Amino acid sequence: MVTASAPGKVYLFGEHAVVYGEPAVPCAIGLRASVTAEERSAGMRIQASDLSLDGFTVEYDGEGRDHPDIDVPDTLVQAAMGYVDEAVTQVREAADAPEASFEITIESEIPLGAGLGSSAAVAAAAIEAGTRELGVEITPTEIAERAYRVENTVQDGQASRADTFCSTMGGAVRVEGDDCHSIESPDLPFVIGYDGGAGDTGALVAGVRERRKEYEFAADTIEAIGDVVRRGEQALTANDTEEIGNLMDFNHGLLSALGVSSRTLDSMVWAARNAGCLGAKLTGAGGGGCIVALDPTPETLTALEYTHGCEEAFRAELDTDGVRVES
Ligand code: PMV
Repeated sequence: MVTASAPGKVYLFGEHAVVYGEPAVPCAIGLRASVTAEERSAGMRIQASDLSLDGFTVEYDGEGRDHPDIDVPDTLVQAAMGYVDEAVTQVREAADAPEASFEITIESEIPLGAGLGSSAAVAAAAIEAGTRELGVEITPTEIAERAYRVENTVQDGQASRADTFCSTMGGAVRVEGDDCHSIESPDLPFVIGYDGGAGDTGALVAGVRERRKEYEFAADTIEAIGDVVRRGEQALTANDTEEIGNLMDFNHGLLSALGVSSRTLDSMVWAARNAGCLGAKLTGAGGGGCIVALDPTPETLTALEYTHGCEEAFRAELDTDGVRVES
């Protein structure tokens, strides 16, 4: 039996624009998803708890998927099972063990679908746990590639490499098309505000695509986000957290212009700014979910806790550890 974990992430800069080949900088945070894999003779069994739902168990033999005892929304079960199924396909391929079956247990501290990369973390941890359970060790680069295939398959070819690469490698990373690498970053004192909701990534990405087609200035906005990211990289290299904050504010404004913010995301961003944070923006697809602010003081966290529409606020440091074996 092997347990592996992988971190969630925030986008410091560049979501949405990354879909059009602009660079993005996601950063891993210290909230993790853990996956335990235990080989069994036949038939898959998946258990999950803390996935923003009460927990479920699914047993199936690879043929039928009837699970009448499960009392959670089908879509959540299907989403979680889709990622685990695809991860197991990748494990079988990597280990050259087409018949391997597992009991898989998922535990996650990362809110689902809220822009914090929960599915990428589950995919990376499941691939690491499954291959190790079969006695095979694959490189982080291969885990990142296989986790990307998982997301890309489940999301019908709509995934960028940002989430899965970041979750596998940990720390701050730069992603531009297929080119992904780790970059140096100072300690970043993140504060996260979560509105308890989730955006529909597919619909939000499609909305930006429409606007980009219709308005030249929307295409310019996407290019401007690319410019913000490039300036952000310089600020990271220079260890200039004040400038990083300014650029996060700018990035949020451009994402708002593209129509992917929401009333609660904007309220949380403004509450953080009024509390004196260095900068704040939505993270991920938008529409609902999380914002990320930069603040070394306790002020932003307190302000968010009292903000209407903010369901949860917490600190999250940059986590330099990517996917790792726990036991
Ligand atoms: O909300 P998340 O963490 O799935 O991030 C989506 C980021 C997008 O740039 C909007 C889409 C993508 O695949 O990069």
